Amino acid sequence: MGLILHDFHPKLENFRDEVIFGLNKTPKQLPCKFFYDSRGSELFSQICELEEYYPTRTELSIFEKYKEEIRELVGRNALVIEYGSGGSQKIRLLLNMLDKPLAYMPIDISKDYLFADAKELSKDYPDLEIIAVCADYTKALKLPEVDVNFAKKVVFFPGSTIGNLDHKDAEKLLINTSNMLNQGDGLLIGVDLKKDIKILNAAYNDKKGITAEFNLNLLVRINSNLNANFDLSNFSHKAFYNEKDGCIEMHILSLKNQVVNIDNIEIKIEEKENIHTENSYKYEIKEFQDLAKKANFVPTKVWTDPSKLFSVHYLLVKK
Ligand code: AVJ
Repeated sequence: MGLILHDFHPKLENFRDEVIFGLNKTPKQLPCKFFYDSRGSELFSQICELEEYYPTRTELSIFEKYKEEIRELVGRNALVIEYGSGGSQKIRLLLNMLDKPLAYMPIDISKDYLFADAKELSKDYPDLEIIAVCADYTKALKLPEVDVNFAKKVVFFPGSTIGNLDHKDAEKLLINTSNMLNQGDGLLIGVDLKKDIKILNAAYNDKKGITAEFNLNLLVRINSNLNANFDLSNFSHKAFYNEKDGCIEMHILSLKNQVVNIDNIEIKIEEKENIHTENSYKYEIKEFQDLAKKANFVPTKVWTDPSKLFSVHYLLVKK
């Protein structure tokens, strides 16, 4: 069939504005969506292979174990829309288990990875219409027209990426999602579960230091894209579970008083000051279902692994 690429990539200007805005805030923060340049996407793939990082392999085992049920629920001739396609392993697993999916629309902010993966995929799935959309899916989005007569739309949002949003923003994203879907369309979403704090902390503080490199790569990226001079040896990785809010917090810790230049702008950073780079919210099953209900979804099926580390939900849109 065909491969269509749409580039709605936010301009470099937005990156610069958002970085400077975030670093002038108290406390300082940087949006985690900027982790995923090509180096960041590569480091994230390495995280997914780590002993301590259970989410990826656990989610895959759930898809594998319940593929017949998923196939039934999604049905034949679906248009599969994926948020944040980074790495095509999961989508291949899904496409292979589904009953004649007609079209696939990955939506991702990391353009190079998105387009390269889409091309690879189109070679291996010649009957599938692929429409790659480079965009920020956390914003309301108008989907491009699709020239295929699909039976229903199913949004695929694996990896517990929804956990990067706080509860209010997660609800907004789910509302935007149900707004672009019709009655009877579906959402297949992976959601990381609350669990023993030791397991959570280890998953974001791996022994090999890959998560640390992933976190600090944000500064590397700012240096090269925005003509900045962060000295990496003056910062370190910090991640911990915040029990009250139910999320892992990731920060970049400043090891001394310093002044950093981003192009012509000066940023003062104090010793022990944090730059907040990511939250990763964890949910109870019912807690997530209640959130989805507020966004016009009906919880239809939920699967977990035997140790209850991770959950996969299928929800239907009700208008
Ligand atoms: C891709 C957002 C699910 O929160 O676990 C991994 C990103 N950050 N290690 C997560 C991440 C640090 C990941 N998500």
